[in-house]
Amino acid sequence: MKKKLLLVSALLYAVTVCAQSLNVDSIIPLLTLDEKINIVVGANRLIETPPDAAPGMPARTTDWDEVNKLRAEKIAPGVITAFSEGRVPGVAGEMIPVERLGITTMLLADGPAGLRIDPANDHYATAFPTGAVLASSFDTNLVEKVTEAMGNEVKEYGVDILLAPAVNIHRNPLCGRNFEYYSEDPLLAGKIASAYIRGIQSNGVGTSLKHFAVNSQETMRNGVNANVSERALREIYLRPFEIAVTEAHPWTIMSSYNKVNGIMASEHRWLLSDVLRDEWGFDGFVMTDWWAEQNGERQIKAGNDMLMPGTDRQAKEIRDAIEAGRLDERFLDLSVARILKVLAKSPTYNRYEYSDSPDLAAHAQIARDAATEGMVLLKNDNSALPLKKKAKVALFGSMSYDILVGGSGSGNVNRKYKVSLDEGLANAGFRLDRKISDKYAAHVASEKAKFPENFWTVPVVPETDITEAEAKRAAKDNDFGIYTIGRMAGEGGDRRTEPGDWYLSDLEKSNIETLSKAFRDAKKPFIVVLNMGNIMDMNWDGAADAILHAWLPGQEAGNAIADVLSGKVNPSGRLPMTIAKDYSDYPSSKDFPMSNNTPGTLDYNEDIFVGYRGFDANGITPAYPFGYGLSYTTFGYSDMKVDNNDGVANITVTVTNTGKKPGKEAVLLFASAPETNVAMPKRELRGFAKTSLLQPGASETVTIEVPVDALRYFDEFDREWKLPAGQWQFTIADQTAGLTL
Ligand code: GLC
Repeated sequence: MKKKLLLVSALLYAVTVCAQSLNVDSIIPLLTLDEKINIVVGANRLIETPPDAAPGMPARTTDWDEVNKLRAEKIAPGVITAFSEGRVPGVAGEMIPVERLGITTMLLADGPAGLRIDPANDHYATAFPTGAVLASSFDTNLVEKVTEAMGNEVKEYGVDILLAPAVNIHRNPLCGRNFEYYSEDPLLAGKIASAYIRGIQSNGVGTSLKHFAVNSQETMRNGVNANVSERALREIYLRPFEIAVTEAHPWTIMSSYNKVNGIMASEHRWLLSDVLRDEWGFDGFVMTDWWAEQNGERQIKAGNDMLMPGTDRQAKEIRDAIEAGRLDERFLDLSVARILKVLAKSPTYNRYEYSDSPDLAAHAQIARDAATEGMVLLKNDNSALPLKKKAKVALFGSMSYDILVGGSGSGNVNRKYKVSLDEGLANAGFRLDRKISDKYAAHVASEKAKFPENFWTVPVVPETDITEAEAKRAAKDNDFGIYTIGRMAGEGGDRRTEPGDWYLSDLEKSNIETLSKAFRDAKKPFIVVLNMGNIMDMNWDGAADAILHAWLPGQEAGNAIADVLSGKVNPSGRLPMTIAKDYSDYPSSKDFPMSNNTPGTLDYNEDIFVGYRGFDANGITPAYPFGYGLSYTTFGYSDMKVDNNDGVANITVTVTNTGKKPGKEAVLLFASAPETNVAMPKRELRGFAKTSLLQPGASETVTIEVPVDALRYFDEFDREWKLPAGQWQFTIADQTAGLTL
């Protein structure tokens, strides 16, 4: 009888659910234990992981016909879209539906620089500029524009949640995934992430703010224990997540692989429940990072609601724990409820008829424009840049001919094309030196022929030698010399302080010296372009007349770099991290990536003094400071004022274009606390804004509002936020103003 009643009520429910939104509270009692477990443990466990898959990671193949054939037979590399009948091959994760109750699947896909799905059937997505570029723009409106387009591709290709943004702090410049992250500063990182989330979710699809928390390195990422003080956690490492959760409300959060103060992040109740939900009011669901197969029972109890991509062991673990009474089923019900509330918003649940044809041409233009806004002009002696119209250019460096558009790992994007710098300069009307271009084209082609067909890595064409004779001839025959230095990094590994990585390789060093001498002797400008996701040693910068940091600027890279080199776009990017004169100047360099004393543990000894906070505290002058960036014009500041408007500090300043070219200015506001007996950073970024394009002579008054509460520090003894009373000093460029709080 009971079974019949259950069936009838389920049928009744299924009928109603199709007609209206998901009524979570009434559906939970109808679910069997297996169905609840199917909702929290991902669908990947239902397929065979191919025998050749690397441990822990499904194999990737570029033979998409083969993949689709295998998927159709339900045996395929990676997560199969079993329940969506392969409609979106290549998603990273999928929820097992409960069809009898009208609960659909939900599709999760990477990544921060654009949607990553199999490009089968021409399902290419746009490779947008990477995280560091968005942060360098200091322009939240721009970021929102980029992610409105990115989120449109998520929706139109039938995906529900994009596994982004990635917002971990640049604790050390060698972290392999810094290209995906934003900054050494928590406010900048949090505000960029908030704008990112708003843009994506404006399409009615979700995000997954990651990796929560303290995933500051790739070395031993699946278990390294980050030993961090509560003050450093709250003021630095958790702060970007707090800003994004409270301001932009991401549908989901992804917990990180590592431990935080001895506890796995995905099993960390203080992090996932006390702080994230009780303090910050997060109302979505938490998923694990992929294959973070800790203990499912502890993960559910801690508030980690979904286990991705899902393994049999996890499903069994939860069932056993429930049946043995170790895990109260109410914990499971809570996770199921949180997941279903998000599902109810998803396009798949709402039967959205996706087009499979987003406007990729329009999005490519958005990617190109955004890339130009984040590029940072580090040097421009004697106005070497912009290039003269139709100038003759000798273009050197393998990266110039096979540009790097994004990083490696899950953050990679299956894009249809990329524009390298040779193409971009030609498109912009510059005349490339044929002898040099032919040499590099042949070199690049022969090297690329050796590249492995592997999604996970992004191979880099090695540099080739430039002889003195070549350099001399090129300097004589051309107006400019340009040399691109490239660096690749990504998920699963950190960079090294070695030649060819943090430092120039011997070959790069000799090439730069040869070119610098030849072009200087010929009185022609020599320009270096940096094409990497983060930063490198800059002690060679005397050899260049101009240096443009182009980062990993997305698929339109060559066109975007040419837009800036030609002066079509005036560079307005600012460094979101500090470039030290010497690697050992970074506070974290003493122990990155592992503490010497305790294997598997990293003591965050610098505490809150990360990045410029550390350089200021230690009185060390960097090579290029946080917030540094030149323009083809100049700006003046005047009339800075500060007042306290009912608990909000209102700061205004007038910015004037005092140069000869139109340009935009990033306005950075720092605050310095009054003297107090607590160690405080000399200054902290408390706000920023980007002006509109100012014509020469034009001015704009910029207003930045700072809630007084945002100025507080975290007192570890009393375990509460406190505001040092007294005279606060606010600084913008060469302007300062005081406010007593
Ligand atoms: C990876 C990454 C995470 C990504 C996930 C799915 O290991 O750490 O950023 O979203 O797995 O691919």
